[in-house]
Amino acid sequence: MGKVFGLLGHPVGHSMSPNIHNDAFNQIGIEATYHAFDVGLEFVKEAVHGIRALQIAGCNVTVPHKVAVMEYLDEIDEEARLIGAVNTIVNQDGKLIGYNTDGRGFVQSLIEELNEDLKDKRLLLIGAGGAARGVATALMLHGIRHLAITNRTLEKADPIVQLAKTLKTPAKAVDRAQAEKSLDEYDVIINTTSVGMSPNVEEVPLDLGNLKREAVVCDLIYNPLETKLLKLAKKEGATTINGVGMFVNQAALSFEHWNGVTPDRNRMRKIVLEQLGGTTC
Ligand code: ATR
Repeated sequence: MGKVFGLLGHPVGHSMSPNIHNDAFNQIGIEATYHAFDVGLEFVKEAVHGIRALQIAGCNVTVPHKVAVMEYLDEIDEEARLIGAVNTIVNQDGKLIGYNTDGRGFVQSLIEELNEDLKDKRLLLIGAGGAARGVATALMLHGIRHLAITNRTLEKADPIVQLAKTLKTPAKAVDRAQAEKSLDEYDVIINTTSVGMSPNVEEVPLDLGNLKREAVVCDLIYNPLETKLLKLAKKEGATTINGVGMFVNQAALSFEHWNGVTPDRNRMRKIVLEQLGGTTC
């Protein structure tokens, strides 16, 4: 029997991960299968022990278990520790190692789109939850000029500002009004909140009135493929990036951790778009 990989989450019914990983296994010729496991909140510990017991080769972890799984792992990679969440588990001969590929997946898609490095860029992050922390950590580890964070509940941005101090990145928290007023200071704007996600597709997390034309506006959301925020940004002449690239890249990075080879990301992207029912992105 081949290796078994899995996704631990709740709910997992609409997950695109089984399709893209199983296709990559087939394509590369690795004898393995990937299954989505719906794990209730009360079973996280048993599920992680089950990885060892059943000799599951590796797992992805998704909402709401990314933090809860950590205490049952044997080792946590430095980036995942800084983020405070794990989305990838590698079973190395019975030793479970936790990684986080979400933030790096985003940084990769941003650099690919920008076609230049981020070292001189000033970035504005909208949101201060788990996704924001993943993206902020990966950006700061990569190296950026400055990070501003705006959030509905401003004090929730404080831990990210503290982390920035540790990682020696200039950073500040700004309220929505300040962010909107000084929007032309930012080269890259990233929405990490769920504002604008289906079915609330008319919602926008920030007014883009002062956006500069050369800016890049990113949304981690991929349903819809083009949020209202991205539509408005495009109208202002800005470059836009949706959440598909991040999703594909985090999956490809997980696949690399498990198998030591890079899957075909274009193929993964095609499958994701098919599943989302879109033709362009
Ligand atoms: P995730 O893991 O997806 O980041 P999370 O940790 O629950 O989820 O964080 C959700 C983020 O979206 C937070 O920044 C939240 O703002 P608050 O800290 O003020 O709660 C933001 N968010 C969610 N719904 C929002 C809304 N309707 N308007 C503004 N911000 C919202």
